[in-house]
Amino acid sequence: MKDWKFDTIAIRGAYDALKSNSIVVPLWQSVAYPFENAQQGADAYAAEKEGLFCYGRWDNPTVDIFERRLAMLEQGEAAIATSSGMSAILLITHHLCQKGDEIVSSNRVYGGTFVLFDVGAAKMGIKVNWVTKPNDISCWEKAINNKTKFLFVESPSNPALYVADISALAKLAHSKNIPLIVDNTICTPALQKPLQMGADIVVHSVTKYLCGNATSLGGSIIAKKKVIKEIRKGAMRYLGPSMSPFNAWLLLMSMETLSLRMERHSSNAMALAKFLETHPKVESVNYPGLECHPQYKLAKKQMTGCSSLLSFIIKGTYKEAVKVIEALKLWTHATHLGTSRTLVTHPASTTHVSLGEEELKKAGIPPNLIRCSVGMENIADIIADIEQALGKI
Ligand SMILES: Cc1ncc(COP(=O)(O)O)c(C=O)c1O
Repeated sequence: MKDWKFDTIAIRGAYDALKSNSIVVPLWQSVAYPFENAQQGADAYAAEKEGLFCYGRWDNPTVDIFERRLAMLEQGEAAIATSSGMSAILLITHHLCQKGDEIVSSNRVYGGTFVLFDVGAAKMGIKVNWVTKPNDISCWEKAINNKTKFLFVESPSNPALYVADISALAKLAHSKNIPLIVDNTICTPALQKPLQMGADIVVHSVTKYLCGNATSLGGSIIAKKKVIKEIRKGAMRYLGPSMSPFNAWLLLMSMETLSLRMERHSSNAMALAKFLETHPKVESVNYPGLECHPQYKLAKKQMTGCSSLLSFIIKGTYKEAVKVIEALKLWTHATHLGTSRTLVTHPASTTHVSLGEEELKKAGIPPNLIRCSVGMENIADIIADIEQALGKI
């Protein structure tokens, strides 16, 4: 089991089919688990022994298999599943910081993460220092002080596809004795393994590619056993942002095909990016697989594929961008990404609207930027649809 490769783990990891008498992981749709005696109850509550389950807010057998399988895929020690990607980021922030502490984050992050750090963390007495030139390591260094509790980076980022130098950031973080947290939602462990590059903690919105079909909201933190255990025995119990067993079960089904799907997502996105790059109505394309991307070489070094998120700036204004989006017939207009269906979003007015005009500019999200999560439909159909829509402006 130690030598199992990625796809074998994705299908069989952390589960013994013979022992459970079922080739598919069963769904334990139960919030509590009976104890044989008082000592076992106390042991389950203390969470010091493996294999004892206590109460669904912090443990469940189906969720446990999902957590252990995901940790194996990320090559991490342990994982904890959460109700959403946002609750995973909230939980790790809450775990690592006290009132008066500070955090340092790239400003190229998902809009919800931006607001969590900017508004939510402030409510907890935690200050965020934004790095607005995240590809310049000296800007990170300058933002760190003796109150800094962690560095946070999303790579590639949503929606501008900034790629961070994970090894360099890990080196910097460790020189200051603080952890580096990487949001690996866009690549998933199928395409990028931040812990292997020196990151200490990985977070995910598993709602996206890990789920892959827009059925289940969820998140995860992957870190050292000690960190996960402290969270499970601590904030998970009193905050309660738990993943439902049914979502964990659906996610286990989807994860079986993760690397196959990521391959198709990446090849479809590459073909679309190349098409858009030469289109006369398109000003520029953000996709790390294109040689014109500012971190192309870095992306090649640290990712085995570029995933399916891309964005493009059209020649025109907000008005033209909206006209293109509304003219699309196959692509679905929705604020989501990472599903089998091609989805289109206007980030400046939806997912990232709370940044405000000035921060949007700094984060590279102009009003004429369109974000696309390329699905797994036939690429000819995906291209034909955007071609006709661009023809409307
Ligand atoms: C990169 C990234 N991280 C985190 C999140 C938040 O995840 P969730 O919607 O599961 O809370 C998102 C959501 O779009 C995201 O794109």
